[in-house]
Amino acid sequence: MSVRIVVRERGVTDSPDDLAILDDGERARAGRKREAAPFVTGHALVRRVLGELLDRDPAGLTFARRCTTCGSEQHGKPSLRDVPDWHFSLSYTSASAIVAVAEGVEVGVDIEDLTDADFEGFAGATLARDEVAGFDGLDGHDLLVARARVWARKEAVLKATGRGLVVDPSEVLVSAPRDPARLVDWRADEPRPPMIALADVDPTTPDHRAAVAALTGDDLRVEAV
Ligand SMILES: CC(C)(COP(=O)(O)OP(=O)(O)OC[C@H]1O[C@@H](n2cnc3c(N)ncnc32)[C@H](O)[C@@H]1OP(=O)(O)O)[C@@H](O)C(=O)NCCC(=O)NCCS
Repeated sequence: MSVRIVVRERGVTDSPDDLAILDDGERARAGRKREAAPFVTGHALVRRVLGELLDRDPAGLTFARRCTTCGSEQHGKPSLRDVPDWHFSLSYTSASAIVAVAEGVEVGVDIEDLTDADFEGFAGATLARDEVAGFDGLDGHDLLVARARVWARKEAVLKATGRGLVVDPSEVLVSAPRDPARLVDWRADEPRPPMIALADVDPTTPDHRAAVAALTGDDLRVEAV
């Protein structure tokens, strides 16, 4: 048995067609961003992929948010307001956006730009002590790829749960960068998801790495559309 996860990635562009299918709230948020294009590309991508899968007008879709930490409906993991069984997740950098969609299971996706993993304190900020050995022998570009891959895996898990970075990523252990993606251990105080599956996604945007996670005990069948 496997769970189908539909994934689509797109390079960020400045597109009036994308802006046109956003709702007033999204357009207002875009207007407050220092860089609007990644936000607009990402949110339009969510609407287009969901519109195609559900055979609905992308501009007519409505979304809700709910924070699993404080219960606020002003922030937190977004969901489709009137199609509760379909779940999606969005991630974007200044160059690329990716959306993952699944029916019947909560999903999380994350995309990382290698340059964002290029800082001295990466291990201290993101890894458990016993994860550090998985990076032995890596340097230069390979090291950044490994960091971005592991970081994307951790954040995909945390986005699938809806907790996000409220949970310390160094307490969520994933497999070593050269091994197949999986959740290895959960050391955070917050409750561990009962089941979780994880997979790497190869983005087409150069110098990016991505991963998807879903709250399921089954394998993931990732389908790029
Ligand atoms: C979710 C989070 C991990 C995203 O991190 P990021 O690397 O900056 O951004 P990404 O591009 O990967 O993802 C952003 C998208 O994730 C989604 N998202 C937001 N909160 C989310 C959550 N709690 N769980 C899953 N997805 C979430 C949204 O679609 C968001 O896009 P938007 O801000 O344009 O609407 C981070 O913002 C976070 O941890 N937020 C939660 C903080 C929180 O809950 N604090 C407690 C408040 S009481």
